[in-house]
Amino acid sequence: MANSNSGASQDAIEYHYDMPASFFSLWLGQSMTYTAARFSRPGMTLDEAQQDKIAYHLDSARVSEGHRMLDIGCGWGTLLKAGVEQRGAASALGLTLSPLQQEYIAGMGHSNVSARLQSYEHFEPEQPFDSIVSVGAFEHFAKPGMTRAARIEAYEGLFRRCADWMTRDGRFSLQTMTWGDAGEVERNMNRIHEIFPESDLPEIHEVVEAAHPYLELVSMENRPEDYGQTLADWARGLKANREEAIKIVGPERYKFYEDSCTGGSLLYRRRRFYLCRFVFRRRGR
Ligand SMILES: C[S@@+](CC[C@H](N)C(=O)[O-])C[C@H]1O[C@@H](n2cnc3c(N)ncnc32)[C@H](O)[C@@H]1O
Repeated sequence: MANSNSGASQDAIEYHYDMPASFFSLWLGQSMTYTAARFSRPGMTLDEAQQDKIAYHLDSARVSEGHRMLDIGCGWGTLLKAGVEQRGAASALGLTLSPLQQEYIAGMGHSNVSARLQSYEHFEPEQPFDSIVSVGAFEHFAKPGMTRAARIEAYEGLFRRCADWMTRDGRFSLQTMTWGDAGEVERNMNRIHEIFPESDLPEIHEVVEAAHPYLELVSMENRPEDYGQTLADWARGLKANREEAIKIVGPERYKFYEDSCTGGSLLYRRRRFYLCRFVFRRRGR
């Protein structure tokens, strides 16, 4: 068992992510990434915007020739593969709590890309990393019902580790949803805890506060419209492949994902959630 101490357990992660990759590949698009794309120019397709996001994180983490790269919450390994193939990273290691994702990455047979079924909390690297990325995993690093202080402590645990694991000039590129313009009642009624069990979102300022003792903030962007568009495109993809998707996961699970995408898109467009990308470097270099 590769459980997390502060955040969502392996069971909770499996509940959402351990569907066959053939199901996700029907609607996530070519990139096979399950996080907001980056629609940085008008008229971009989902696939173009996903490539834009991949390039953004590789640039922000400065993944380059000979680098050692770490992806915390690596999904099906797309960023790892891009780091090696597009930027010449010497090795790219991913951490995930989903056994099916780990098997998928092992099945790629890519000699410089690997994944461990392990929470970042239990990971002990042998050597430092030049580049660290984490895209859409931070949302799972704290549980509902934790006090603000406990949440900050959990997030600090991540940033302290990243600072320890980085080379002197290392960079960390982080993408996460945060709570946006939503009052307490709306937050309590929100289906987010049902969609992602045992997971809670950070506030935008909690991320900066928790990182501050260990990492220097280099840049930050907040683009909720990116997730509004991505979720609308995923919902369209799901509907277009409805029959095939139901054959793989059954009608109930199909409805769960379709409702999550449709409802989520609306909430992002209303800015109830934010979609943030932070870039950090080590302090006291
Ligand atoms: C929404 S998916 C994002 C995957 C990928 N980064 C992408 O952009 O498609 C969240 C990922 O975080 C991983 N995860 C959640 N909690 C984790 C933890 N404590 N340690 C490592 N990975 C974790 C999940 O297994 C999953 O791979």
